[in-house]
Amino acid sequence: MRCPKCLLCLSALLTLLGLKVYIEWTSESQLSKAYQGPRDTPPGPTPASPEPTLPANLSARLGQSGPPPSAYWNQQQWQLGSLPSGDSAEAGDCRAWGAAAAAEIPDFESYPKGLRRFLLSAACRSFPPWRPVSGGSQVAGCSGTDVPYLLLAVKSEPGHFAERQAVRETWGSPAPGVRLLFLLGSPEGEAGPDLSSLVAWERRRYSDLLLWDFLDVPFNRTLKDLLLLAWLDHHCPGVSFVLQAPDDAFLRTPALLDHLRALPPSWARGLYLGEVFTQAKPLRKPRGPFYVPGSFFKGHYPAYASGGGYVIAGSLAPWLLRAATRVAPFPFDDVYTGLCFRALGLAPRDHKGFRTAWPADQTADPCTLRDLLLVQPLSPQNSIRLWKQLQDPQFQC
Ligand SMILES: *[C@@H]1O[C@H](CO)[C@@H](O)[C@H](O)[C@H]1NC(C)=O
Ligand SMILES: *[C@@H]1O[C@H](CO)[C@@H](O)[C@H](O)[C@H]1NC(C)=O
Repeated sequence: MRCPKCLLCLSALLTLLGLKVYIEWTSESQLSKAYQGPRDTPPGPTPASPEPTLPANLSARLGQSGPPPSAYWNQQQWQLGSLPSGDSAEAGDCRAWGAAAAAEIPDFESYPKGLRRFLLSAACRSFPPWRPVSGGSQVAGCSGTDVPYLLLAVKSEPGHFAERQAVRETWGSPAPGVRLLFLLGSPEGEAGPDLSSLVAWERRRYSDLLLWDFLDVPFNRTLKDLLLLAWLDHHCPGVSFVLQAPDDAFLRTPALLDHLRALPPSWARGLYLGEVFTQAKPLRKPRGPFYVPGSFFKGHYPAYASGGGYVIAGSLAPWLLRAATRVAPFPFDDVYTGLCFRALGLAPRDHKGFRTAWPADQTADPCTLRDLLLVQPLSPQNSIRLWKQLQDPQFQC
């Protein structure tokens, strides 16, 4: 080397570069430490098997040991080979299932209107994507190089513009390995205002709306689950985990990512994680919420994760779809998911960091979220305030 000064300069430069990389790396790892989730949460009891199976006779899995009680669901489940597939060619077939229910349930006419409508079309489950008149392309699938680790699948409703925007600006904001999609029915509504042009604009602007052509009412929420599973199967089969949550949930996304990455692979494969109800029974107050008539269902609900927010392993999508063809329709989406998991022989895992029915007075102080992963419900305004507070590097409890 003819220039010893050059050598000196070069090594000084390299040292400086190394120092810069080191400083950036340590400050980044400090930052991510601030958002680490609960470290001491025991993952709950290990289910008998982490691998899904679907036996020919589901009766034992679904807790039906003897001849079923006379309730309609129990009878149907006892006899069920599989549901009519509900393709448009067979739409008559799926409607026939509902017509038979109406004819065979003695007090069907006394059921609340929503429940009656649910039963009449409950076996109709395949609906095409909703497309605006102006056309436009569908939401992109996951390309080979861009398969998300965590898909945030948020059940929204056409009119919930503010809720969706708050999710985009907070826990659903772009992050490596994370993708956000909203699940909606048709914005054309029934008796309400026609939101088609507004939703069509939003769909073009954000490319994060999965829309199908069915009426978006609470009793149709299971359709969002099933149509999402079918979409995953076709367009995003490699996704590792899927969070299912309504648009008024609040997720500490970095904390959930840390939790998922730390799971033993054998649990991760059959994951169904959330706030688990193990002893829930149908509510029998005729005008109350979640009313289920005794002539429709008897018995306890399966252990299920609250629909306020839960995570499943992406690889279970085809299994859940197969289970759903063999589990009789049930009006509530989260209970139905619990039934399908039970049919597959997989148990939900309770996590104390999932808190649905979160009391509004807790939202004033971000420190109440310190050990939590997901809370629900939260207003768009509170979500934005809490997210900002949690992002603040000065934030401490
Ligand atoms: C399914 O299993 C139950 C008990 O687990 C049994 O009583 C019933 O007869 C079986 N059904 C068929 C069709 O084999
Ligand atoms: C669900 O959507 C379908 C298709 O639009 C509709 O026929 C059905 O009545 C809806 N269900 C309820 C409970 O309104």
